[in-house]
Amino acid sequence: MTTRPKRGSPARANVGPERKDAAMQWKHKDLLDVSQLSADEVRHVLATAAYFREINSRPVKKVPTLKGRSVVLFFAEPSTRTKTSFDMAGKRLSADTFALAKSGSSLSKGETLKDTALTLQAMNPDGIVIRHGSSGAAQFLAERLECSVINAGDGRHAHPTQALLDALTLSRRWKGEFSGKTVLILGDIAHSRVARSNVLLLTMLGANVRLCAPRTLLPPRPDTWPVAVYSELPQAVQGVDAVMCLRLQLERQQAGLLPGLREYARTFGLSPRHMALAAPGACVLHPGPINRGVEIDSALADSAESLILEQVENGVAVRMALLYLYLTRKSPDAAQSGIPA
Ligand code: CP
Repeated sequence: MTTRPKRGSPARANVGPERKDAAMQWKHKDLLDVSQLSADEVRHVLATAAYFREINSRPVKKVPTLKGRSVVLFFAEPSTRTKTSFDMAGKRLSADTFALAKSGSSLSKGETLKDTALTLQAMNPDGIVIRHGSSGAAQFLAERLECSVINAGDGRHAHPTQALLDALTLSRRWKGEFSGKTVLILGDIAHSRVARSNVLLLTMLGANVRLCAPRTLLPPRPDTWPVAVYSELPQAVQGVDAVMCLRLQLERQQAGLLPGLREYARTFGLSPRHMALAAPGACVLHPGPINRGVEIDSALADSAESLILEQVENGVAVRMALLYLYLTRKSPDAAQSGIPA
């Protein structure tokens, strides 16, 4: 997907195949879910992220692209990967990042989300990255704020930046070709924003998607989703090119959805014997955090088939691309500048 210029070469200013892409005018103010993006726009995000991957491989990983811009990282739910990678992404682009957690904010004193958001807006940030336990929280902010709002996960609704980093990971594995590939999403789909955003994005890019879960962990009316639904893992995994395991979201589940963790692990936990039924070269993804021995066998998580840590690495590049695109978007009649080297 990328052409790597030699280190120190003036050719670095030319981003090769992405150069044409880099001139795409980004028109969106906010990223609430991948459904807002066209397939061309998704490909543009992935090409831009591929460029930033190259920057992340340099000894000095910092460029002045967003110098003088400020980004608030407003995480009202726990996060390791998304929060740290957005922070790192902003800093590598020379933006100033400010982290706010629910426990350290006035939300914990009874302030409403609206008042917290308007307070943050009054400080004139260029973007707010929000994670919140309520579906629709990102849209609520986007409708009220002038700055860009990027959804870092809202309730069980959407996790667009996770789906984009998963797409970059699979695109690199499959050399950009999604058509004819089959991805199995396995586990707690009912409570998963990752599953919802990935079904939208993978099908948009041309992949076939299967879901496999106990009946109690499937969403209502899965027949209305553009997927094939399975209840037996050995059948679901037959011939697939990738398996995306999901964590059991115990914090979002009502009691009684599962007989027990041991029974779940025995029936729906992904193991090497399942991967033997998948297509040759099939890979394993997991958005994290993983529960070893529950949804995924511990040795499989650490095996050569596992792309879990590559997903984390790609998360920084994708979030750099998104901060770059959303924070430098121009009015519809102005052309967007190319990516600075
Ligand atoms: N995948 C994901 O969203 O991980 P975090 O909860 O650690 O951000």
